[in-house]
Amino acid sequence: MTHRILIVDDEKNTREGLRWALESHAEEVLLAPDGEQALLLLGDNPVDLVVSDLKMPKMDGMELLQHVREEFPETEFVMLTGHGTVETAVDAMKSGAFDYLMKPVNLEELGLLVKRVFESRELKRENERLRAEVNERYGFENIVGNSPAMQRIFQVVRQVAPTKASVLVQGETGTGKELVARAIHYNSPRRKKAFVAVNCGALSQSLLESELFGHEKGSFTGAVSQRAGRFEAADKGTIFLDEIGETSPEFQVKLLRILQEQELERVGGSKPIKVDVRVIAATNRDLKKEVEAGRFREDLYYRLNVIKIDLPPLRERQEDTALLVHHFLQQFNKEHGRNLTIGPKTMQLLQNYSWPGNVRQLRTMMESISILTPGKEIQPKHLPEEVAADPDPGSQLRLKVGMTVRDAERELIRATLNEYGGNKAKAARVLGLGRKTLYRKLEEYEIAEEKATA
Ligand SMILES: Nc1ncnc2c1ncn2[C@@H]1O[C@H](COP(=O)(O)OP(=O)(O)OP(=O)(O)O)[C@@H](O)[C@H]1O
Ligand SMILES: [Mg+2]
Repeated sequence: MTHRILIVDDEKNTREGLRWALESHAEEVLLAPDGEQALLLLGDNPVDLVVSDLKMPKMDGMELLQHVREEFPETEFVMLTGHGTVETAVDAMKSGAFDYLMKPVNLEELGLLVKRVFESRELKRENERLRAEVNERYGFENIVGNSPAMQRIFQVVRQVAPTKASVLVQGETGTGKELVARAIHYNSPRRKKAFVAVNCGALSQSLLESELFGHEKGSFTGAVSQRAGRFEAADKGTIFLDEIGETSPEFQVKLLRILQEQELERVGGSKPIKVDVRVIAATNRDLKKEVEAGRFREDLYYRLNVIKIDLPPLRERQEDTALLVHHFLQQFNKEHGRNLTIGPKTMQLLQNYSWPGNVRQLRTMMESISILTPGKEIQPKHLPEEVAADPDPGSQLRLKVGMTVRDAERELIRATLNEYGGNKAKAARVLGLGRKTLYRKLEEYEIAEEKATA
């Protein structure tokens, strides 16, 4: 990285001396005799660091510092002060100078200081870069989906992100629950604080408690030292409680109390600790049913479910499948240095497949295909057997217990239409519906147009 330093001092000898000392630290060293000249130079050249005398004619160091802070916030500032002006030096620090040095300047000390300035700038930039990367990875832009269902979800995410409302994300495995949770966090005012994800289903009851709430020394065998829990780590940020449906009733009571009181006690501790945490919970069960079956506390359910986001399975949004295929293909082409394309027949098979593992399964498959496919185009024979095998799975009727009558009707209409090649008149006759009614239902159920016309 190239560095440019500007030295501002009214004494020519001092300027030259400083230039000599700093030349090895920067690609370019500029000189100015006073604040006014310095500002002119700054306007023409981006400068990383200004080293300025305090007492100068026309515009002094303090005034220059104020201008620099306002007009060139990226530029660091080091103030040089004579005897008797230490107080001003302190003021300079308060006004945003990086540091100050007493005159006569110890050149070795100055060299070290300049090094520190550049190191801290590098760190700052690195942090900004990382933050931008995180935003890029977890922002909205990375949730692919154009189906009406996903568009509605984007809308909800946009609305709830700025608030502190608890969110419950439901959906089958691999539908993107964690992705949505992260998008909420990284689009919220809490984005600069931690997003802490805890898989509640992976830990035993007691381990989960000490993991989340922390513990005091000696509170149980193995608690050799005191430890803060994940809730404390998420203070002012967001905690993501994955697989919340797997937790025990005792745990649910404790969690509810913490959410209500916004404070917790570590395991074996007695002192309440305040926490300010936003909660996003996720489950691949139907939590309402769990409540009805007595396996999940109703009060906790209502506490978590201020906003509910239901992620539909991939097979119910075929138009997203095509988008996702292209998205992943592009990503893995880049990652593995390939230039693969995909033919229409292959795409049709992918769209018709039922994707029990949803987007995750599609993503994993696309990665392996993008590595293993020889040649330039992905063809049906390159697909895993179960995906390619289905002769015309689009016509298969996928009904199951647990579906609502509405879901079942939608599914029946979809499969019938598919069977008759998208011919609506025929499909309406077979279904025993008037054509108008069918059109209305197609619209209502958002059955993909490409299927509905042939
Ligand atoms: N709409 C989407 N656009 C792009 N990528 C997605 C989308 N949905 C899911 N993914 C990707 O699919 C994978 C699974 O997503 P995620 O981990 O969020 O699912 P999940 O619902 O939490 O699954 P599980 O219930 O198994 O934990 C991730 O790699 C994620 O990036
Ligand atoms: Mg998950």
